[in-house]
This record gives sequence, C-alpha cells and structure tokens, in this order.
Amino acid sequence: MEVIHTDQSVLEPPRLRFAGVSVRFGGLTALDSVSFAVPAGAVVGIIGPNGAGKTTLFNVICGFTTQASGSLELDGEAFRPRRHRLTRQGVARTLQGLGLFPGLTVLENVMLGLESTARHNPAEDALALPRSRRGEALLRERGLRSLDDLGIVSFAAALPDTLPYGIRKKVALARALAGAPRLLLLDEPAGGLAHEDIDELAAIIQSVPATGCSVVLVEHHVDLVMNVCERIAVLDFGKLIAEGTPAEIGANQAVTDAYLGVEPV
Ligand SMILES: Nc1ncnc2c1ncn2[C@@H]1O[C@H](COP(=O)(O)OP(=O)(O)OP(=O)(O)O)[C@@H](O)[C@H]1O
Ligand SMILES: [Mg+2]
Repeated sequence: MEVIHTDQSVLEPPRLRFAGVSVRFGGLTALDSVSFAVPAGAVVGIIGPNGAGKTTLFNVICGFTTQASGSLELDGEAFRPRRHRLTRQGVARTLQGLGLFPGLTVLENVMLGLESTARHNPAEDALALPRSRRGEALLRERGLRSLDDLGIVSFAAALPDTLPYGIRKKVALARALAGAPRLLLLDEPAGGLAHEDIDELAAIIQSVPATGCSVVLVEHHVDLVMNVCERIAVLDFGKLIAEGTPAEIGANQAVTDAYLGVEPV
C-alpha cells in the first residue's frame, strides 16, 4: 500500500544526516553506529558524559576524524568533509577553548576565518595588486559586519588578550559566523562564561537559524541546552541512547541514569 507523507520533514532533506557512523580508536569504539538528523534551521543539542563521543562526532563532521563505517549527508547530498575546505563547504565550528591568535587583532582573527573562502593568488598578495587589495577589502568588510552583528565591532582593533573572556568568546563566534555557514558547530561554548554571559550566549545561538544556518551544540550546561535546542541527542559510551525534544529527554529515565542525575564537571 502506498504511504502518503504529510510531514514537512519528509519533503525537505535535513541539513545534516548521520547514518550509522562508527569511529574506532584502536580497540575503543568512540562512536557506535550513530544515526541522527539535524533539521534545516534547527538548533540541535548533543549531550552525554565525559568521553561519550561528542567531540569525536564534531571531528567527523569537520573531517578531522574519518569514520570506520557509515555516511554523512548535507542538504540531501553525500557529504565528505575536507578539513581545509570546510568553510567553503558551508560548515563552521568553534573549538573547545577559544582558538584565537593573541598576536592578531580581533578583526584579523575574524578575517582569518574567512581566508579559505577568498580566491587568493599568493603572487598578487605579495605585490599587493589591485585585485588582491579588493579581496582584502571584502574580507575586512565581511569581518566588520560579523563583529557588528554580535555587537562587538568597537573591539575590532583590540588584541584578544586585552578583552574580557565573554567578549573573546563572541569574537570566536563572529569568526565562525563570518563565512555565512549553513551549519555551525559549537563545542562547549558556555565553558568559562559567567551567568549573565550565558544568557547572552543563549540569545545569540537562538538568533543564528534566522540567517539560514543550523546549529549543533555540544554542551555540559544542561539548562542552556534545554532552553535553546529544539531537539537533543544523547550519547553514552559512543551510542545514541535517546533523541527527542527537551521535554522528552528530561523525562527519559535512561538519560537521567546516564547523565542528567550526575553533576556536570
Ligand atoms: N585521537 C584519539 N585517540 C584515541 N582515543 C581517542 C581520541 N579521541 C578521543 N578518544 C577517546 O574516544 C572517546 C570519546 O572521546 P570524546 O573526546 O569524543 O568525548 P567527549 O564526549 O567529547 O568528552 P568531553 O565531555 O570530556 O569533552 C574517549 O574515550 C576518548 O578517550
Ligand atoms: Mg569533548
């Protein structure tokens, strides 16, 4: 019998799909046949105890780690991440930690995030020929716009180390968003932030889908995940043990046993 789907998610491919992805490090299975999808325009959270495989999952999406089996799709097409072309492939991430270069200004750090999207010719760069200067001006303009979007353009000329931690976090986010990604990966963005900064971070994360970008958020700060995510996936020892809305996850006994009953570290 023919099945007629009316669910919109069936008509529109998800932004990202993981299908049976496994990663092994020697004898350790860091991801064990993990399947889940990130709908277009959604914020999806990944939670789980230390060592559950969350960062490994990000590393697969970024091409830092290759899966032993399984496949990825981006907007319905086979996705083979290339770590040096990721910005061009439409994927951006912030690192666990800030990853800002202390010797570069805030704007230069953000422009660096855009470098791989620019069509540069090193010989033209060295001679500072007009086309190269135009390219640089474009990067500068996009970098400034991204800083402005996060309300920190006044810090463009500052060195990161002179700024409060909350501002530096925003710089890292501005760098990730500057290339107008379709998928943004945030690895523990609330780490080290004060309470009021976390509220601000929540607002920023929730504003990202309006730009057409989906977000995958790995975070131990459970309140933040519950507040900003439409769906949450739970990993434990490399296995996906639950997937659902924040309410469903909060009421899931297996999740409480594996993670939510335990104080975050
Ligand atoms: N490059 C590697 N080589 C060997 N083992 C690794 C490697 N990277 C991760 N692992 C192991 O894989 C498992 C999953 O690690 P992963 O870093 O993905 O966990 P996580 O969920 O991000 O943890 P945390 O919450 O502490 O950041 C762990 O047992 C870890 O020790
Ligand atoms: Mg991690």
